[in-house]
Amino acid sequence: MNNTIINNIIDGKKFSQMLRKNLKNEVDNLKNKENIVPKLAVIVVGDDPASRTYVNNKKKACTEIGIISKEYSLSQETKQNELIKLLDELNKDKEINGILVQLPLPHHINEKEIIEHINPLKDVDAFHELNVGKIMTNNFSFLPCTPAGIMELLKQSDISVAGKHCVIVGRSNIVGKPMAMLLLHKDATVTICHSKTIDLSKFTKTADILIVAVGKAKFIKKEMVKPGAVVIDVGINRTDAGGLCGDVDFENVKEIASYITPVPGGVGPMTIALLMKNTITATLIQNNIK
Ligand code: GUN
Repeated sequence: MNNTIINNIIDGKKFSQMLRKNLKNEVDNLKNKENIVPKLAVIVVGDDPASRTYVNNKKKACTEIGIISKEYSLSQETKQNELIKLLDELNKDKEINGILVQLPLPHHINEKEIIEHINPLKDVDAFHELNVGKIMTNNFSFLPCTPAGIMELLKQSDISVAGKHCVIVGRSNIVGKPMAMLLLHKDATVTICHSKTIDLSKFTKTADILIVAVGKAKFIKKEMVKPGAVVIDVGINRTDAGGLCGDVDFENVKEIASYITPVPGGVGPMTIALLMKNTITATLIQNNIK
């Protein structure tokens, strides 16, 4: 045990509460000054238990800060054109400021086509190609919630990324790829690794900041991490005992990391807080409020 490392666990729950408190003030102001209440449409297709938990947490956060959420719970058998019809209606509905389609969608649905059907101005996940492109050029309206939540965690923890070697394990459109862009914009040197990377440890061991989003329980072991590294764990995996664990072998890696995020209570709560922020941003944009 490295005794110089004390309290090295980044409390995402605490940071998220701080952020949500500020967002609640913004929503209150919007209500009092403009008589506007942000409204988020949440679409969930099928009955995946993990999606159900995530959607419930998102709705709870909305209630807490004064955003109205409206859930559209559709059956597993929902057809592509039925989902598109619903999106057409929500895109046009002036009362709806944000639209979130919980992923993954059932296999018979073309996820890409659905995402591209969301009005980019209401795309609070920032999954639409237009919003993805805007992230590349650092000219964005919305940032994807998980990468933006991680940037906020790093900032609030006084961890600078400029000049550091940031290694991302995972190349998803939701986390890995946009994460790389956000870090680049803050002058980090970025490496993206993935399932086909040869000798993964060779890369992870050189990371000053290691961000892991692979969806494999306790995949990153102590031996794969440089002592003193900052370790950000995006994974949420179910354990056999019915609990949750991340993609990082937390108990062992925390012994050598300078900072580490736990699961639960690390990145997850920040993702939700940033979704709230994006919903407020969407409301401001749609109402021409600066
Ligand atoms: N599924 C897993 N993460 C996310 C997310 O951030 N947004 C949506 N819409 N679906 C998800």
